[in-house]
Amino acid sequence: MSNKLDYITTEEFTKEQLLEIANLSLKIKNCIKNGYYPPLLKNKTLGMIFQQSSTRTRISFETAMTQLGGHAQYLAPGQIQLGGHETLEDTATVVSRLTDIIMSRVERHKSVVDLAKYSKVPVINGMSDYNHPTQELGDLVTMMEHLPEGKKLEDCKVVFVGDATQVCFSLGLITLKMGMEFVHFGPEGFQLNDMHKAKYDEICKVSGGKYTVTDDIESIVGADFLYTDVWYGLYEAELSEEERMKVFYPKYHVDNTMMSKAGANCKFMHCLPATRGEEVADEVMDGPNSICFDEAENRLTSMRGILVYLMRDYAKKNPYDLEKQEEARVELEKFLK
Ligand code: CP
Repeated sequence: MSNKLDYITTEEFTKEQLLEIANLSLKIKNCIKNGYYPPLLKNKTLGMIFQQSSTRTRISFETAMTQLGGHAQYLAPGQIQLGGHETLEDTATVVSRLTDIIMSRVERHKSVVDLAKYSKVPVINGMSDYNHPTQELGDLVTMMEHLPEGKKLEDCKVVFVGDATQVCFSLGLITLKMGMEFVHFGPEGFQLNDMHKAKYDEICKVSGGKYTVTDDIESIVGADFLYTDVWYGLYEAELSEEERMKVFYPKYHVDNTMMSKAGANCKFMHCLPATRGEEVADEVMDGPNSICFDEAENRLTSMRGILVYLMRDYAKKNPYDLEKQEEARVELEKFLK
């Protein structure tokens, strides 16, 4: 058995584990909202390796570490090697000797998988071209906080509108794990593919969740949560802005008419950053049913939960020898006298 738990994809976690992290996240949030900052990561250092820019992920991780008594090192795109002159194996070995836990946002999913393989400490995937698992946890926490009256998670329908980005795929992973209904409403050629569906099928066998991938607008009716993302997630170089607009606009543009069709109480979600006026209208983003800024705040909520969960697991699997600790302390005291 490995002496550490990584957070690379929620596929590797059970529904119970994910709910445990979500509930832990909410408990810590409650403490901090009420002015108690639990020092659960005191003296711990998070190495944050970014191959791409970020607002929410970077700030959430750094704030989470500070609030819990630790420290985060921001290793910006281009600042350290990741599979360049130095092998990724060597980088992972070195960074994991210098920090207590690592997160990385990578261009290619294999990089974060390899980081986890060679790192001696837990590794968190801060987004790859395959998935965005920390976003998933923040989204789960947000849906838990905004559950419709009288409904449980597994009673809810979640619709993703637009391009099959890694956020779209990830939303399907977490909602189906929870046994919810998930719909991807997107244009042909930009829908979740057979690989994604095979992963969903495996999850649904266990959870009882169900999913639909379609370009039929009727599929959004009855949604409890309607979610969208930018229209240039995975093929920036392939389609011009004009070509993208022709594919997605106006059919997949989330405005008040679409929200009304989904349902009067349907909540609007977006991972952000949004391109206002493209995938979403201001009237929706700033409207009464929008929870996208709660969702952004819950990136921090869930980062705290993930960090504490992984570090607690690591501490259990790698306990200190308290006798040796005491000997070392006494030796040091003697030297300093
Ligand atoms: N949603 C999200 O991951 O935002 P950032 O790219 O700003 O981190």
